[in-house]
Amino acid sequence: MLVNGRRIVSCLTLAIMHQNDAITTIEGLGTPEHLHPMQAAFLEHDGFQCGYCTPGQIVSAVGHLNEDRPTDDATVREFMSGNICRCGAYPNIVAAIQDAAKAGARASI
Ligand code: FES
Repeated sequence: MLVNGRRIVSCLTLAIMHQNDAITTIEGLGTPEHLHPMQAAFLEHDGFQCGYCTPGQIVSAVGHLNEDRPTDDATVREFMSGNICRCGAYPNIVAAIQDAAKAGARASI
């Protein structure tokens, strides 16, 4: 999830620590009728297989762009390394992030 637009490890964070912060989860990024550009890019590039990790991957990818990190292959792989995809969809995930970056995909906070 994003806290004030930045990634955090939600399973290691107490909610009480962020009572007055802006929290963004996958549900806050887009709607079925109007996908967030990162969601659309994941669809376009088949950036998932089973889908279990996909919400976390997409939110973390938006956080990556919010943090103004470069979008070359090595940097995306390094800063997305906390999100594990057992299906091995990594090349498509990287391509989706790079495409979404070109479209200016960031979370509005
Ligand atoms: S899409 Fe299957 S674990 Fe990520």
